[in-house]
Amino acid sequence: MSEMFSPFRRDFVFGAATAAYQIEGAWNADGKGPSIWDAFAHRHGKIKTGENADIACDHYNRYEQDVAIMKELGLDAYRGSIAWTRILPEGSGPVNQQGVDFYSRLTDSLLEAGIAPWYTLFHWDLPLALQKKLGGFRNRDIAEVFADYAEVVVRALGDRARNWITINEPFEYAFFGHVLGAMAPGLKNPLAYFPVMHNVLRAHGAALSRIRAISPGATVGITLSQTPVVPESSTQPDQRATEVADAFLNHIDLRPILKGSYPPILLDRAHTLFPRILPGDMESISQPLDFIGLNYYTRERASHAWYVPFLHAWVSGKDAAPGEFEKDGVQYTAMGQEVYPEGLYSLAMMMKTEYGNPPVIITENGAAFEDRLEGDEVHDPKRTSYLQTYLEALSRAIAEGADVRGYFVWSLLDNFEWAQGTRPRFGIVYVDYPSQRRVIKDSGRWYARLIRASRGQS
Ligand code: FCB
Repeated sequence: MSEMFSPFRRDFVFGAATAAYQIEGAWNADGKGPSIWDAFAHRHGKIKTGENADIACDHYNRYEQDVAIMKELGLDAYRGSIAWTRILPEGSGPVNQQGVDFYSRLTDSLLEAGIAPWYTLFHWDLPLALQKKLGGFRNRDIAEVFADYAEVVVRALGDRARNWITINEPFEYAFFGHVLGAMAPGLKNPLAYFPVMHNVLRAHGAALSRIRAISPGATVGITLSQTPVVPESSTQPDQRATEVADAFLNHIDLRPILKGSYPPILLDRAHTLFPRILPGDMESISQPLDFIGLNYYTRERASHAWYVPFLHAWVSGKDAAPGEFEKDGVQYTAMGQEVYPEGLYSLAMMMKTEYGNPPVIITENGAAFEDRLEGDEVHDPKRTSYLQTYLEALSRAIAEGADVRGYFVWSLLDNFEWAQGTRPRFGIVYVDYPSQRRVIKDSGRWYARLIRASRGQS
């Protein structure tokens, strides 16, 4: 194996990430209840490819093999999520022991392989029963219901699993699920955005207090998506729109969590859309965390838009047609997203300068490209170069004092990319769905070498 230099310290955490609905399959096995994602994907026309994740990567039945692959890659850590409906099929009430046992077995096998589990408690797969009974995250009661579930999980696994992420990407969950309807629960209601966001953040706060009380040594954080926004032009209206868009996409959850208040520019423009904030809410949301998890993929551009009520801002990526991987010297992924490594540098530096340099973990970063299985190999130089350039940008920020302590590739495996189905392949490990065979891609082998080099091993 060729030698490699790594700019990362020995104790930097290298991992790979997944989410329950995207990989587990076994959607109704062993007492599991239905989630809003099971219901959404079963509805005609909701998933671009007409698929669902009833089987996905069949990780539920193949987790031992998947852990063996992680071991082969030399991962320090694995970020997976717990399916709420395996633990509590109805969302609250009786515990399904078989679901608990699955995560217990997974935890043991990770630890045996020397891999630290980092579990996300909520990666979008809300129990369908709670959506029906309570209206999901539109109801304030969800916060304590979520904390009760968190307590069951942490009591069962907390003696072995020490790292917890309460919630994944409040912005995507609130916006794509409740305003655009492109994801579960599939609502199209612009008025739902701020109330859902507020309740997601309150649920985070309630679960955090609960975990602190029952597992004082645990490391707890939340995962937020971050998409730097640049103005479409240098005109004043576009610059103003950029400030609004940045607040709407990025600071909407970062600021309440780290500073205890919503971005002033949003309160200013859209105060009538905010829910009533009760005494204690912001204190609960802004309790101290052990780390902030950030997911970073690409940047967006903002322009002034008189026709968008309240915000007067419009956001779009730099357009590339699907399958067009390069345009005007800029690279794109199979999702049509601009490859923009510099954003990871500026994001890490922004956390240092604007938010007091809290410990940061990059909980997701990666790219979909069109991979082909050739015998026992998958050659994916674009992904390797993507990971390499993003990690270089990250290491520059660390060298300049940004407190970033870990990085998780999205994703360990090719998987079910929500409403896009299995077509986008994000894995550093290829999954041949008909046979469920796993093949480590070249990018996975590259990542393994980087991890070894970071530990001072060749
Ligand atoms: C993030 C999600 C993750 C995955 C990646 C590509 O928004 O958290 O589940 O779908 O995007």
